[in-house]
Amino acid sequence: MKTRLNPVSAFSMSALCSPDDAVAYLKAGKLVALPTETVYGLAADAADGGAVAAIYETKGRPRFNPLILHVLDVHQAQQYGQIEGLAQALMDAFWPGPLTLVVPLRDNAPVASLVTAGLETIALRSPAHPTARQILAAFGHPFVAPSANRSGRISPTEATHVLAEFRDQVPVVDGGPCPLGVESTIVGLLEDKVSLLRPGSVTPEDIKGVIGKPLLPPTEKIQAPGMMTSHYAPSNPLRLNAAAPEAEERLLGFGKMTSPPALNLSEGADLKEAAANLFTYLRRLDESPGPIAVAPIPDKGLGIAINDRLRRAAAPKPS
Ligand code: TXA
Ligand code: MG
Repeated sequence: MKTRLNPVSAFSMSALCSPDDAVAYLKAGKLVALPTETVYGLAADAADGGAVAAIYETKGRPRFNPLILHVLDVHQAQQYGQIEGLAQALMDAFWPGPLTLVVPLRDNAPVASLVTAGLETIALRSPAHPTARQILAAFGHPFVAPSANRSGRISPTEATHVLAEFRDQVPVVDGGPCPLGVESTIVGLLEDKVSLLRPGSVTPEDIKGVIGKPLLPPTEKIQAPGMMTSHYAPSNPLRLNAAAPEAEERLLGFGKMTSPPALNLSEGADLKEAAANLFTYLRRLDESPGPIAVAPIPDKGLGIAINDRLRRAAAPKPS
């Protein structure tokens, strides 16, 4: 269905849009909801940190959980993940389709650090839905897409569900009801160990049929959704809510600072910009030794998820 929507001027309108409009929204760094064979996803350009931050803002997610990178095919997936033996075999068997594989992240993968929440693994999925594939092909890059619902609500399987969820906020491509209605199966692959992270319509038996051995429970390095205690943590000590740096500290700023910060998450005190910079700047400061102080971040909107991550990063490390 072609609509009258002008994709550049009508971002704030709630409306159905065409797959071509969806591509224009993605290219412009905007969110768009679209159908997959499992559930409707809230999609953003995976390389655009600000667009990825907007997913969290729009969903009202209190935490930065890593997101699934949706790719056209194995060839595209190879730019992002290290794909070897068993991962390749599973992709050959089940892609495109409702199987997500968590594999080691490739160095310099062209993806915003907010996508993996700073982890060194990445979740990859190639959706089978023709509309999702049409958009991926025309966009030419992967998008990330969590389910298109507000945090804590059930996943939408029809365009009307998404419209009701994000009234006036996000344009929606209507692809009819999702044929599967359950999120993809998620499997972790690390050093030839294959673990089930989230059950879905590709069953453990289906997977065993390809890899020739049973699935293991989640490991410490790759954990299941909702069980993720592992997260990005800098090796240097981190002090939070610091108005100014002490002795050796380097300051990670936010907004206008009285002492000049080493890096500033957002000079204009924009939480979306701060979220997009968070993991990249923490890593950059962690490249050289010495304590890090972080300026106070307002505990509202995206600031809640930023503070959640900062608190975990500052927590004493298990010895
Ligand atoms: O069917 C689906 O997979 C849908 C559609 C829209 O494609 N998407 C979806 O995304 O369910 P989301 O964000 O709701 O769920 C992704 C799950 C998260 O719970 C996250 O914990 C896990 O994938 N995940 C992503 N990257 C991970 C990683 N590197 N390690 C472990 N878990 C990861
Ligand atoms: Mg979800």
